[in-house]
Amino acid sequence: MSLLEIKNVSINYHTNDKTVYAVQDVSMNVDEQDSVGIVGESGSGKSTLAMGILRLLPENIIETSGEALLEGEDILAMDTKHLQEVRWMKMSVVFQKSMNALSPVHRIGYQMEDIYRVHYPNEDKKVIQDKIYSLLKMVNLPERVYMSYPHELSGGMMQRVAIALSLIFEPKLLIMDEATTALDVVTQTQILNEIIDLEKNMNIARIMITHDMSVVASTCKKVVVMYAGRIMEQGLVNDVLVNPQHPYTKGLMSSFPSFTGERKNLKGIEGNLPDMSIYPTGCVFAPRCPFATERCHKEIPQLKKYGDNWEVACFQSGGTSNE
Ligand SMILES: Nc1ncnc2c1ncn2[C@@H]1O[C@H](COP(=O)(O)OP(=O)(O)OP(=O)(O)O)[C@@H](O)[C@H]1O
Ligand SMILES: [Mg+2]
Repeated sequence: MSLLEIKNVSINYHTNDKTVYAVQDVSMNVDEQDSVGIVGESGSGKSTLAMGILRLLPENIIETSGEALLEGEDILAMDTKHLQEVRWMKMSVVFQKSMNALSPVHRIGYQMEDIYRVHYPNEDKKVIQDKIYSLLKMVNLPERVYMSYPHELSGGMMQRVAIALSLIFEPKLLIMDEATTALDVVTQTQILNEIIDLEKNMNIARIMITHDMSVVASTCKKVVVMYAGRIMEQGLVNDVLVNPQHPYTKGLMSSFPSFTGERKNLKGIEGNLPDMSIYPTGCVFAPRCPFATERCHKEIPQLKKYGDNWEVACFQSGGTSNE
């Protein structure tokens, strides 16, 4: 059984005058100790998917369907009380601006203590303090951070606090949404290496949302390529990023400098994301796809098995059908 099984999840936002089809029919698996990168252009639904699975979207404006099974239990159907036990305890999240959630006028250690007490109200103060010092140490922060205020820390230190906080209840699944994007390359690399070590030691699986393909290539086992709310291609990093099958993945890869350092022009992908309030009649990528045929504009391609652990949603990819 996978740790997290996402089955046909769709998430729509209802705003005053329209419906935005932000995530459409997404199915993917995360195994224990897996590391799965989610990539795709801005607006392709990556954060909506992550926030939807964490049930952190405002429920009055969204409509969700499908299942998200965490250790076999559907998060999307859980009652609020049970959800509160699962969220942070079994799965947690770090955003780019996670630290904004902390109060600027209270010391970091005290705030971490309070958070710990939400789930363990009767725990001994000394035990909690030891726990927090060990968390700070795990993310390579000095002990003085305990008594610091958020404004006294650099961006890299703050993101480390956010990561320490996300690990406070030893979750099985950590979701990072552009969590290291704003940091300089050296700090980002340090933090990513620390996380990879933590994962090994704490038996954590990670979903990593990022614009940076090189981060996925260097820190993830699997990759999910999203475009306009749908998965275009998914599989092992060593397959998908090395030998991309979907025209969108190919375009995305050619938008980035070669990892091997060979110089070539960055081709990018012409055009823009479609209006996501119009439900597509065919492949969402067809309007920008150089290989699109008449069928691509009329029919939505489903993910087809292309190889072991490899799926592509393209009529041209030559995969074998799942059906
Ligand atoms: N609260 C909201 N109300 C209405 N539409 C929204 C809301 N939040 C996001 N959207 C829309 O949902 C779609 C997906 O957005 P989302 O933020 O999930 O994309 P993303 O892939 O995370 O982008 P980025 O890489 O820029 O973070 C976009 O069309 C966006 O405009
Ligand atoms: Mg996002």
